[in-house]
Amino acid sequence: MGHLLRRRKIIMSNTSLSGLVLAAGRGTRMKSDLPKVLHELCGVPMVELVARAMRGAGVEDLAIVVGFGGEKVQSRLGGQYAYVWQHEQHGSGHAVQMAMEWLEGRTGSVIISAGDTPLLGVETFEQLVLAHTTSGARCTVASSIMEDPSGYGRIVRDESGAVIKIVEHKDCTPHQIAIHEINVALYCVEAEDLRRHLPNLKNDNVQKEYYFTDVIEMIASEGGQVFGEIFSDPAVTVGINDRWQLAQADAELRSRVLKRHALNGVTLRNLNSIAIGMDVEIGPETIIEPGTILLGNTKIGSHTVIGPNSVLQDAVVGDHCNIRMSQIVEATIGNHVYVGPFANIRPKTVISDKAKVGNFVELKNTLLGPGAKTPHLSYIGDAVVGPNSNIGAGTITCNYDGFSKHRTVIGANAFVGSNSTLVAPLTIGDEAMTAAGSVITKDVSAGSMAFGRARQETKEGLATEWRKVKIAEKQ
Ligand code: UD1
Ligand code: CA
Repeated sequence: MGHLLRRRKIIMSNTSLSGLVLAAGRGTRMKSDLPKVLHELCGVPMVELVARAMRGAGVEDLAIVVGFGGEKVQSRLGGQYAYVWQHEQHGSGHAVQMAMEWLEGRTGSVIISAGDTPLLGVETFEQLVLAHTTSGARCTVASSIMEDPSGYGRIVRDESGAVIKIVEHKDCTPHQIAIHEINVALYCVEAEDLRRHLPNLKNDNVQKEYYFTDVIEMIASEGGQVFGEIFSDPAVTVGINDRWQLAQADAELRSRVLKRHALNGVTLRNLNSIAIGMDVEIGPETIIEPGTILLGNTKIGSHTVIGPNSVLQDAVVGDHCNIRMSQIVEATIGNHVYVGPFANIRPKTVISDKAKVGNFVELKNTLLGPGAKTPHLSYIGDAVVGPNSNIGAGTITCNYDGFSKHRTVIGANAFVGSNSTLVAPLTIGDEAMTAAGSVITKDVSAGSMAFGRARQETKEGLATEWRKVKIAEKQ
């Protein structure tokens, strides 16, 4: 802990630390219309994971270089970051060159990271800055030892161990290709050096690209010390270039997220079948049953059971609830609420404390009051159901006339008979009742009983007579 605090302090005290995330590349091997950096891990685009980790390490002043699909990146990430445009992609060095204006007048160190290395955590950035500060180097390069280094740039060191350059796989000599220490594409460089060297980059290499890595060689060749900080866990530093790497990194991150919840007191049953987004919050003593997917900004209280086989997205669920085999999207659920099995809770629904929603019930934009019940087979939309009211099986709110939506307002302690058809706009008063099978088209005042069906007629003996006739016909 002391170690961590010391590290934080070093970073925080370095006030002139800024960050640049390179995210303009197309990512051809993803075979996708979506820019590579917008592909998600645990519900968060990979470029945002990188940016968040940098922020977490104390880098407040941060810009993202966008290009391919840049509008999509900007609209997805929003105004929380500054953006630099690289309209044509001529390599990572060219990308940093586009940030020249952003670099103007800047002092201190700049962390440069690729937007396609999403498993870099806060600790990774802290370690990089710590290495940079303590080594006193001009520039620090993050590296990793890979069993299979193919595709990566190789770190070339001199006899003393100092980094002298980085050579791309395609430009390697046979001797260099045997090097297992690879470039993670994470650097800590002085702003001043960037301004000085960036204009001198050349694209005289196999890929005819402007490589950012050449800046490292320029710094080293003018006598600046380049420190290579080796990160021991290659899983953390992996760059995502195709969807198999994406799937594997997603699994790694998912497992980290699940572990965090488990250590916070959440029971996870059948780990491999549970997916929980990065930003989901869950209280202690809650049980997540198999086949459960929790997405977006879902927040779940304590002593609640979710699942099996439930999907919650941007949902808020209180304490002591039971959510069984159901889907809940953008809805808020109080405490001691039972939902399911097989309920579909749609946006803008609020289910108050101690309410119950049973099987095959769909709720949309509906406020279910405290203790209210919709136990079976109903569609309740654009409605308010008062406290402790009971909605009988098969009740439908006819909220849509083909042109606009209308509201149904039901008071407290009302009783809506089974198979009622409530034609909105409609108000049913407190303690009112509707007879089973009614089509209710007019408001029902408090305490009234409404019948909206034909009166029953019983013809004594008619069934017996009818049978006789039928049997006679057959003979
Ligand atoms: C880069 C490094 C390589 C390293 C590897 C680690 C260079 C020259 N090479 O190679 O040494 O081992 O990452 O994963 O930097 N980008 C732009 N604009 C461009 C080109 C790239 O913004 O014109 C961004 C990409 O969006 C990506 C990052 O830079 O986030 C890396 O680019 P990529 O093309 O994936 O580089 P690699 O060939 O993987
Ligand atoms: Ca890459």
